[in-house]
Amino acid sequence: MPAVARVLSSPLTLHPSGRVLINRFVKAATSEYIATYDQENPVATGIPTQAIINAYEKWAAGQWGLIVTGGIVIDTIGITFLPGNMWIGENEDSEERRKAFSDLAKAVHSRNGTLIGQVLNIEDGGAYLATEHPEAAQLSRTVYAAKYLFDSGFDGIELSAPEPPKDNAGLPNIEKVLQLIDISRCTIRSTLPLESVEKFIFGLKVSTARLQQAGVDFSGVIKILQQAESSGYDYVSIAGGNYEFPLSTDEERESFYRKVIEEAKQYLGSNITVYGNGGFRSVAVIESLIKAKKLSGVTMAKAACAEFSLPQKVAQNRVTGAINNPFELENDTAVMAGAAQINQAGAKSLAESQGIINDGVMDLNNSTTLKKFLEAKEDFLNKKQKLKDEGKVLAGAILLSA
Ligand SMILES: Cc1cc2nc3c(=O)[nH]c(=O)nc-3n(C[C@H](O)[C@H](O)[C@H](O)COP(=O)(O)O)c2cc1C
Repeated sequence: MPAVARVLSSPLTLHPSGRVLINRFVKAATSEYIATYDQENPVATGIPTQAIINAYEKWAAGQWGLIVTGGIVIDTIGITFLPGNMWIGENEDSEERRKAFSDLAKAVHSRNGTLIGQVLNIEDGGAYLATEHPEAAQLSRTVYAAKYLFDSGFDGIELSAPEPPKDNAGLPNIEKVLQLIDISRCTIRSTLPLESVEKFIFGLKVSTARLQQAGVDFSGVIKILQQAESSGYDYVSIAGGNYEFPLSTDEERESFYRKVIEEAKQYLGSNITVYGNGGFRSVAVIESLIKAKKLSGVTMAKAACAEFSLPQKVAQNRVTGAINNPFELENDTAVMAGAAQINQAGAKSLAESQGIINDGVMDLNNSTTLKKFLEAKEDFLNKKQKLKDEGKVLAGAILLSA
């Protein structure tokens, strides 16, 4: 079949960094769960493994225009919540960690990819929001992580918009969130070398669901997106729902997400890139949203874990969308399946896979594979509970061959 010129497969220039991406696809943040982990030893924890490096090399080869890591933790809450994710911390640093982070960036660059580190600044951000007169110094761990990523050769950083604290009247104090968004970028930039700081990409993930739960309305979400633009973020990634398969049990959440996806761009200038993040599966749907100038592109998590080469397949006109995901409406299982697929992709480098990008990644539409996965999931959860009862943590993904 001849290739069809699609806007989804056309380049995109980010502003203000000026970085040019090959297409409108983003590999969304997906926790890997397969970094090193030793509950007793932080220095030996959160180091990117060869499996992580292999998986990211394959996403780059699969032509994801922008590739975002899983949440990189920078504090105790983060590592407790996401054991097996990557970790950056001043006290935990080592030569081995530095090398692994730069090997990760090199692997992506060797396939012409653009790599963004998602930094989970839970404790820094929380302390900043809780203080009446906060100072930039409170963001020291976030800034350290950003500089670390820069020094390791990453192309940018993604932060997340936090839920606002309540003001004295019990209403969401959005001003605080706007301040944090602004000061985070300014402070990070001030620590990067002048000659290359302009090219470092800043992204902001904004979950309409989290904000809605914290009492933020449509105009509040728009204010947050506008702040990202005026503070000089290159992109916003709007998450919080499932566009093509909305959860019928959560109509309020889904309709809020849909409204923000479809209307937000009208309130923003043309410089900031707006990605939809959640439930984008079919080329026709995405194409029409981009053509209508509602979105600049889309980010995908579940589909990116199932098909590492999806953007390449779309560019070659071999598919009309992502394959079916049996866990579309079961998020926890979908996350476990995605992590298992990342681990499968990571078992071999692209060269060891003879250039076959999706080599070894299970297809959950195969009934035998699905059955094996569900059995392995039961085992994994039982093991996890048993260890939890002993005060221990089970890190890692479900191990399963395709
Ligand atoms: C395996 C997996 C891991 C995820 N890990 C993260 C994460 O570390 N940080 C984050 O912000 N979102 C994470 N998410 C959420 C995704 O980034 C995304 O917002 C969500 O899955 C909706 O996109 P989708 O419909 O394309 O899957 C994860 C999702 C999956 C499937």
